[in-house]
Amino acid sequence: MIKKITQIEDEVRLFVPSCKEEVDLFKIKYLGKTGVLNKLFDDFKAVPVSEKKDVGIALNKLKSLVKSKLSFSAEKKLTDKRKNEKDLTKTIKNNSLGSRHPLAIVEQEIIEIFSSIGFAVSEGPEIEDDWHNFTALNTPKEHPARDMQDTFFIQSNPDFLLRSHTSSVQVRHMEENPPPIRILSPGRVYRNEAISARAHCLFHQIEGLYIDKHVSFADLKQTLLFFAKKMFGEKTKIRLRPSFFPFTEPSAEVDVYWGLKNEADYRITKGTGWLEILGCGMVDPNVLENCKIDPKNFTGFAFGMGVERIAMLKYKIDDIRLFYENDIRFLNQFSSSL
Ligand code: PHE
Repeated sequence: MIKKITQIEDEVRLFVPSCKEEVDLFKIKYLGKTGVLNKLFDDFKAVPVSEKKDVGIALNKLKSLVKSKLSFSAEKKLTDKRKNEKDLTKTIKNNSLGSRHPLAIVEQEIIEIFSSIGFAVSEGPEIEDDWHNFTALNTPKEHPARDMQDTFFIQSNPDFLLRSHTSSVQVRHMEENPPPIRILSPGRVYRNEAISARAHCLFHQIEGLYIDKHVSFADLKQTLLFFAKKMFGEKTKIRLRPSFFPFTEPSAEVDVYWGLKNEADYRITKGTGWLEILGCGMVDPNVLENCKIDPKNFTGFAFGMGVERIAMLKYKIDDIRLFYENDIRFLNQFSSSL
């Protein structure tokens, strides 16, 4: 009998419960009415008197081992297996995954379209100096064109400002890299505008710059047509209207044909069917010179677009403020493989 008891003792020693259920089963098995211990105590009655003392001691030792296992398990605060989240055998319920922000999705889409034709991403600081945001871009102090972009200046040092466009990154890139240059500069920009459904004091831009020998306006037009078709569909039509930017000459604004199928189309296109999506032009020779690129040898084009504008068109969102409120009900509606 002693042998049997030591065998059971070994078994009990090896017991390491991983959940409440196992502890309950253990308790029933050893301490239950018809459990192992009661059975042993029954058998004990038949043990010859000469062995009674030793067997008794062994039995009591086993009983206290079982009890100490139980109280130790209770201390470990094991969870109920049915509620145990870490049970790997449990069928998984759909974990709610986060989604990418619509602006991040659209920005990535634009970057992919241009990178397929050789544009690389170049980034720069959001706090800029006057030179990179304005002066190098042919917009010296007191130039009336500075009024086109109401700028946040840093109060303690007005030579610094929150960049009003990502053209500043193009200047930085040209200063540090010789042509040929083919870059995209995405990023957040700031303007002192009254916040409304159509405008915000911060938004996102993607600007492009291509500098090489013999770059022409026709290259610009074809590049933008390629982009518009990839972004809005193969049948997309674009038109270029003459415009003005201090850093490009000639300059143009690009519209895509949106159509006039319903009342909303009339409203967003102001009854024309055309919608402006970006500004562009041939880089002004003064800008090239400011960045130590010889305008006699090199020409180039630049363009810039608002990511919010494109995202609003793509997803038919009619209030720009929705992008920044981070309302889960809004954000959950976007998914992307990008
Ligand atoms: N930087 C201009 C803006 O913020 C956009 C632009 C970029 C226009 C490049 C022409 C060329 O409005």
